[in-house]
This record gives sequence, C-alpha cells and structure tokens, in this order.
Amino acid sequence: MEIIFSGIQPSGSLTLGNYLGALKNFIPFQDTAECYYCIVNQHAITMPQPSNLLHERTRNLAALYIAAGLDPKKATIFVQSEVPEHALLGWMMICSAYVGEMERMTQYKSKAQKAEKKEGFIPLGLLTYPPLMAADILLYQATLVPVGEDQTQHMEITRDLAERFNRKYGEVFTLPKMWSPEGGARVMSLQEPTSKMSKSDDNEWATIHMLDTADVIVKKIKRAVTDSLGHVHYDKENQPGVSNLMSIHAAISGKTFEEIEKMYEGQGYGVFKKDVADLVVEEMTPVLQRYEELTGSPELDEILDEGAAKAHEKAKVTYDKAIHAMGLYRK
Ligand code: AMP
Ligand code: TRP
Repeated sequence: MEIIFSGIQPSGSLTLGNYLGALKNFIPFQDTAECYYCIVNQHAITMPQPSNLLHERTRNLAALYIAAGLDPKKATIFVQSEVPEHALLGWMMICSAYVGEMERMTQYKSKAQKAEKKEGFIPLGLLTYPPLMAADILLYQATLVPVGEDQTQHMEITRDLAERFNRKYGEVFTLPKMWSPEGGARVMSLQEPTSKMSKSDDNEWATIHMLDTADVIVKKIKRAVTDSLGHVHYDKENQPGVSNLMSIHAAISGKTFEEIEKMYEGQGYGVFKKDVADLVVEEMTPVLQRYEELTGSPELDEILDEGAAKAHEKAKVTYDKAIHAMGLYRK
C-alpha cells in the first residue's frame, strides 16, 4: 500500500492554486492509501509570522483540509509542531545537508531576496527549510508525496538526503516519489499570468482565496488579464492569461484543452470567463460552508489531538531507527 505524506504552510489565506495544485489532490488518496496530511507550522516560521495569526491560521487550515473533503477517519490530519520528531529528525537532516546545495534552491533564492528587501535580513530557517521538509516525509516512510510542481526541487533534495543517509548509515528511509496532477495544475496570478498565484501577492485582484465569497470570485475572474487576440486557445507563451483560465477550467471540469477550445470557438472571452467563474464558485461554495461549520467547533481539536497521537506513533519508529543508525543515542 502506498504511504502518502503532504503538507501546506499556515502562512496566509489559501489560494485557488493551493487548492487545485495540492489540497484537492490529497482527497482521493485517502480511499486507497495510508495518508498523513500535515499543517506545517514549523515551515511557516521560516518567514516572520505574527504569533496570533499563526495560531489562528493553523486551526483554520486544519478546518479547510476537512472542509475540502479530507476525512479524519481515513487520513491522519495533524499539526507539525505537535509531533516533536519533525524538528528532531529535521536537525539530523540539516547536519546531513551541504550549504552549497541549499543555496542553489530556487525557492530559497527568491524568498531570501524578498526577506532581505522587506526585513533587511535573511532568516537562516529559509536555508534549512528543505531538510525539515525531508524529515517530514521520511519520518512516515512515505512512498508518494502529492504537491504542486513548484516543489520538484524540494522533492529531489529529499531523495538525495535520504539516499545519502542510507548510504552512510544503513537503510533507514524509503525514497519517496513526487506526485503532481496531470498538466502540473500550476495556477498563475490573474493579473500577472507569468508568475505563480501566491498567498502573499499584494494585489488583491491577482489571487482567488479559498474563502472568497462567490461575488468576489466572479469579480476577480471578470477582471483577469487576457489579451487582444480574442480566441480561447491554449498558448502559454502568447496567451498566458487565457491559458491560465483554461487550466483552471480543466482542473475543475475535467475537460481537455482541446475540448475547451472547441466549446468556445467563435466566442469572445466574456462567456468563457463567466463559465470559469461559475465552475470555481460551484466548486468552492460547499467547501466554504463546511469550513464555517468547523472553525470554532470542539470537534476540530479532537481531530487534531487524535491526529497528532497517531502521527507520533508512526514517526517515533523511524526516528528511533535513525538515531540508532547515526549513533545519536546512549542506551
Ligand atoms: P505553499 O503555499 O507554498 O504552502 O504551498 C502548498 C501547496 O500548494 C504546495 O504543494 C504547492 O505546490 C501548492 N501550490 C502553491 N501555489 C500554487 C499554485 N499557484 N498553483 C499550483 N499549486 C500551488
Ligand atoms: N514546502 C511545501 C510548500 O511550500 C510545504 C511542505 C513542508 C511539504 N513539508 C512538506 C509538502 C512535506 C509536502 C511534504 O508547499
């Protein structure tokens, strides 16, 4: 049986990109595999977070996991900082990593640049982020990790670190594979469709948030940047805006780009945009409803307590093997 692990940072309000690129794809695995879905709050603090917000967003993200369709009876849902082995194995992974390979990570380079501009310094945690992510995954002997394609480099380094450890200290870790949705499902900014839709975009028109109301979603899609060519055609280079809307359509409707092109042949962007907006609204409305029921309910804490206990059971077995392999123990 496959073992699945994935996580999302509670570092802002989740976007349609997080949903289509990651969260939505977590759901089907719970019926066929052993699943661990984590709220990676220790990754979130690699960038400064207001403490009250971090606390709130951690709970909210858990509620969103469940609202999107994760079933705590089938999948283990938990908060990273509540299973201490993440940080402990994370340190061992940091000590197995090289500064050079960390400095080459594209996410590090872009986040470091942003941090330096905004804060005037580069938090060291940004550099050691990938070994902590490796620890997350390796603790559960995960075989498959569903993530958006922007995580490719992090998955490669996870495998490298696991292989390096196994070679040096003996076979402890399973080498995990990355799983990404067909076509990559990379959702781009609605205003600057050549860059990724992101939680932290300053332009509110660029990003659809999972908790946006139907009204707001419709308005944002109406305003999305397109082009003057006037035909619905998938061409990321010359029509990045339209191609992005087509990807969103495809990810929800299940249609191919060819089918979508045919559907809107001879029509302008108006009808197409309206249909994309309808699809997104239809998909997100029930999620928003369930989310509102769950936040603030004591049920959420029960689920997370149970999740942390279950995750801990599994994590401590691997952690024990790892410290024995490395000699990091006394008795
Ligand atoms: P993050 O927001 O960096 O915590 O990402 C959480 C998950 O969402 C990861 O699996 C990312 O690959 C995925 N993700 C984030 N933004 C996008 C996007 N714009 N399109 C597709 N997937 C995304
Ligand atoms: N780095 C991931 C992101 O930014 C979040 C993450 C942390 C993660 N640990 C993980 C994803 C383990 C999958 C598995 O999206």
